[in-house]
Amino acid sequence: MNKLIVSLLLTLGITGVAHAAGDATAGQAKAAVCGACHGPDGNSPAPNFPKLAGQGERYLTKQMHDIKDGKRTVLEMTGLLANSSDQDMADIAAYFASQKGSVGAADPKLVARGEKLFRGGDLDKGLPACIGCHSPNGAGIAAAGFPHLSGQHAQYIAKQLTDFRKEEAGRANDGDAMTMRTIARKLSDEDIAAISSYIQGLH
Ligand code: HEC
Ligand code: HEC
Repeated sequence: MNKLIVSLLLTLGITGVAHAAGDATAGQAKAAVCGACHGPDGNSPAPNFPKLAGQGERYLTKQMHDIKDGKRTVLEMTGLLANSSDQDMADIAAYFASQKGSVGAADPKLVARGEKLFRGGDLDKGLPACIGCHSPNGAGIAAAGFPHLSGQHAQYIAKQLTDFRKEEAGRANDGDAMTMRTIARKLSDEDIAAISSYIQGLH
């Protein structure tokens, strides 16, 4: 009996923590200002503005905190999150995560190389397959904070991989970014072009 009560209490405790999660309905109104660049439903029309629709909540929340705290530099968003609370950012993340991401087209000339690297990596270079963390269809692993990539603008993806490749550019100095820096340093410009195009058409 006691065991049951303890486990019930534990369950309630865990539920209580999870409750700090975002409210997508509240998030929609709070995300209005973001729509100008990222699209009202998070499907940005411009190739340099990332799509946020369908992105994992954990990843979105982390990026918003990093951008707000100046750990990730996004000049276009300077000051934009200054008055957003943790709850505001959780709500906005829940809203964009609940939207369906649109898919673009891959350049047929680049698909084969992009697919090979994305799915299989490159043993000779010690490059791990991207699918290990971003999953075979590019959906990512939301609970782990591994971002959803499929359908994302190729131009945005290429800029991220090029930034990761530069020493400590752009993002927070943490394990997540370090992982991608180590990986991106093994990619040539041609590899990045092929992978980015492949991701844009992936679904
Ligand atoms: C004036 C345009 C603009 C506005 C408005 C804007 N953003 Fe951004 N945002 C950007 C750009 C540009 C980037 C990508 C920068 C880069 O290349 O690293 C970005 C990146 C992001 C990212 C990281 C995406 C990823 O895949 O890593 C998140 C999350 C984000 N914005 C959330 C928001 C939210 C939430 C709002 C509204 C409160 C907002 N943005 C408003 C331009 C904008
Ligand atoms: C070991 C796990 C792991 C592997 C393997 C991996 N990634 Fe990542 N990737 C991550 C993590 C974690 C992040 C988030 C980094 C951050 O928070 O700054 C990320 C972020 C990214 C981003 C930025 C997404 C955005 O919205 O800004 C791109 C692009 C990306 N990875 C591409 C790749 C490609 C291409 C490969 C294969 C060559 C790859 N990744 C392999 C874990 C991984």
